[in-house]
Amino acid sequence: MKPFSLPRDLLLGVATASLQIEGGDRNNSWFRWCEQGHIKDGSHCVVADDHWNRVEEDVSLIEKLNLGVYRMSLEWSRIEPTEGQFSRDALDHYRREIELLLEKGIKPLVTLHHFSNPLWLEDSGAWLEANVIERFSRYTEYVVESLGDLVRDWITINEPNVYLFHGYIEGIWPPGIKGSPSKYLRAAKNMVLAHQLAYEFIHRIQKAKGHEDTRVGVAHHLRVFQPEGGSYFNRTTARFYFRRLFEDIFLEGMTGGKLIFPLIGSGCSKRCSDFLGINYYTRDIVKGMNLEVLKGSLTNNLGWEIYPAGLFEICHRNWKQYGLPIVIAENGTCDEKDAFRARYIYDHLYQVHRLRESGVNIEAYCHWTLMDNFEWAEGLSSRFGLVEVDFNNQERKIRKSGEFYAEICEKKEITEKMISDYLVGESQVAEESKEL
Ligand code: FCB
Repeated sequence: MKPFSLPRDLLLGVATASLQIEGGDRNNSWFRWCEQGHIKDGSHCVVADDHWNRVEEDVSLIEKLNLGVYRMSLEWSRIEPTEGQFSRDALDHYRREIELLLEKGIKPLVTLHHFSNPLWLEDSGAWLEANVIERFSRYTEYVVESLGDLVRDWITINEPNVYLFHGYIEGIWPPGIKGSPSKYLRAAKNMVLAHQLAYEFIHRIQKAKGHEDTRVGVAHHLRVFQPEGGSYFNRTTARFYFRRLFEDIFLEGMTGGKLIFPLIGSGCSKRCSDFLGINYYTRDIVKGMNLEVLKGSLTNNLGWEIYPAGLFEICHRNWKQYGLPIVIAENGTCDEKDAFRARYIYDHLYQVHRLRESGVNIEAYCHWTLMDNFEWAEGLSSRFGLVEVDFNNQERKIRKSGEFYAEICEKKEITEKMISDYLVGESQVAEESKEL
């Protein structure tokens, strides 16, 4: 392992999602999903990190970690508890939170939809019905009218592909529909069109108020689909089946406004993203129509391969393809014992360093995540936090990897001393580091 530095203008931060940390809300699709007993470890999102009542404490943690950017999301069900009726209180709450961040010099990056729906929307078809496009715009309009003076950067939708895949193909997330590619595609089209309209609305509202520097994007979940053995069949399914259905239909629709096959119809056909949000976690080995984890590879507690070089590959390819500034909106790992998280951070930030050196415009890196939280179908036991949370008493404790990250955020470099303080003795040696 070698020391390296990061550009001073690179923003470093963390990402969270409202449903995973806030607790308290009973009016959303995930509350009901938990009540129905679908969570693997039997835990529930209703308490989570109790962040709703601990905003000040958590913003202090963010400050302690020396973060420059905080990616957070807003809970639609709190803001619009019944269709067409908006809650001033909920908006005031988020306003106070964002003001606190700004007072401490932390830039907010705000997501409007991160996997959870208000129950009224869920019960009227969620994203399957075309009227969701208008509904999402109305919600967006209300939020941007209320917070647009404080927030410059917006993410409309987080990982539409993951949300739809788990909800309509695997059936392990609400609404729990299994094996329906037609529903996946129908809802995908609505999400693409909803983003296009929201993009236009946000810019229109902000311009009218003189905020010329507003930027809007999407957080895309992108993976490496690596054909096994390089056979023609595996290469073809990787490129024209997995990548197209899981990634391209969203990338094309949400950056250039194009609907590509198998999405049918017309989009806005103009630029509709000002930056490209990339969430990167892992690689899949493509074997015909199946995906596998590379045998013998390093994996995290959830069995996801740790493959830092993939971050370079994905960012590089999409920079060449779209030419938009890149915000790495999520990257992190599930590591209960905090045995390899620091090394994971080192290895992935090294890729960010390489990307910047090779001219790829990476503007920001948001680590997933601030603190242990409600990891969707897995529940509270999957631990991705830089901060450890004891869910019995909500005590927060910065992990060693959190201290490491805080030092990187402060110094924008990884020194010899930091390597020996934090990395020597880490239990996993990731592939890229062997090269160094
Ligand atoms: C991403 C999600 C995020 C979190 C991480 C581990 O797919 O966007 O909410 O669950 O995975």
